[in-house]
Amino acid sequence: MRGGLPRLAAIDLVEAVLISKTPLDDRLAWSLDKGLMKAMEPRDRAFARAIAATCLRRLGQIDALLAARLERPLPSAAHFIRTLLRCSIGELVFLGTAPHATISTAVGLVKEHDKGFPYKGLVNAVLRRISEDGAGELRKEDAGKLNTPDWLWQSWTSTYGEKTARAIAEAHLGEPPLDISVKGDPAKWQEDLEADLLPTGTLRRAGGGRIEDLPGFKSGAIWVQDAAAALPVKLLGNVRGRKVLDLCAAPGGKTMQLAALGAEVTAVDRAPKRLARLSKNLKRTQLKAELKEGDAATWRPKAPFPFVLLDAPCSATGTLRRHPDVARLKKPDDVAALCGTQSTLLDAAVEMVEPGGTLLYCVCSLEPQEGPGQIEAFLARHRDFSRTPIGAEELGGLAELITADGDLRTLPCHLKDRGGMDGFYAARLMRAEQV
Ligand SMILES: C[S@@+](CC[C@H](N)C(=O)[O-])C[C@H]1O[C@@H](n2cnc3c(N)ncnc32)[C@H](O)[C@@H]1O
Repeated sequence: MRGGLPRLAAIDLVEAVLISKTPLDDRLAWSLDKGLMKAMEPRDRAFARAIAATCLRRLGQIDALLAARLERPLPSAAHFIRTLLRCSIGELVFLGTAPHATISTAVGLVKEHDKGFPYKGLVNAVLRRISEDGAGELRKEDAGKLNTPDWLWQSWTSTYGEKTARAIAEAHLGEPPLDISVKGDPAKWQEDLEADLLPTGTLRRAGGGRIEDLPGFKSGAIWVQDAAAALPVKLLGNVRGRKVLDLCAAPGGKTMQLAALGAEVTAVDRAPKRLARLSKNLKRTQLKAELKEGDAATWRPKAPFPFVLLDAPCSATGTLRRHPDVARLKKPDDVAALCGTQSTLLDAAVEMVEPGGTLLYCVCSLEPQEGPGQIEAFLARHRDFSRTPIGAEELGGLAELITADGDLRTLPCHLKDRGGMDGFYAARLMRAEQV
């Protein structure tokens, strides 16, 4: 059926996240390799991804619209119908597809794929009503809050206050721009890439299109990296010719930055497949680093390093703009478990920093337990470490990214008028000379 395939692929992606609890990118990779997207045109693939991402981003609003039009909830066995309705509502209300095309394709999919369930009439009626009045109704809603799981909303309001929590949640509603890091001077690439140059040195383009087709990709001069993710490495200062240990390094955004700055990098990660991606990235960008497969909790270098970067595994709740599935996959228990891993890795990193050396800890999480909470507890355990506060001049003058303690705290609503940035936390710690 015409138009049916991208919609079916989108339903598969959404069900993988919401039912099988599979990360969206993993299912996308599977679909491109072995699933429905394999045989699809690039344009249809992009459409399928846009439907799925919109459905996940706007799930709270979509479910509110749906619930208001159903006399009773759909039974759990009708999950295909529920996901079809969710995706179609996302299309109608947020992607602005032609109602006739969306509705007739949805009804066609019910006929083809859900023979056991008599939902053709219901799907038709619900989508018709929403195409007539859904968008008007939405304007009255608190979209940011409605699309944010309660536990995250509570965490952000108690950490940042309600106004900022709302600004964070609103920053998650649209597709983010494409952020690019380059080898060398970003200003030289601005024109070729038709990009905005942010004060922190990241080049930013509107999203869409294939990164592989951009100038500088094939020659290895550029790589994709969110503006906030590019900040921690800058906090190490001049690393030219210095040894840097990059713990939890794959897929290597920060490794490439360090190598491009002339550091002698040793990059450690425990995941072989992710290390292989790091190796491929280094090859394309013609940058060098020594790669080590190992668990940073137990792996040890022959000698301690003057600089250690620990980009610890975290809940990734700072990346919801780019990964809307994270809001649907992560739960408070995951944060608690990750906090345990982070403190183990921080304690392990202590042994790898030489006296007088720097330990830079960072996470792409908005949750305070994984950021400042972790560092407070660390400093209480390790009296030989102290903070080296970060200055605005290290961040292109953006003083709003620095906390009262001198740590980095970016929020998705920062640089709002220029497209926002991921939520990142980083603390720069120095080990005392005399231990
Ligand atoms: C946030 S990602 C790192 C992103 C990377 N630094 C970059 O800039 O591209 C976290 C990484 O930590 C790795 N990891 C998790 N636990 C680890 C451990 N105990 N030892 C080593 N690596 C670990 C994961 O495999 C994952 O690649």
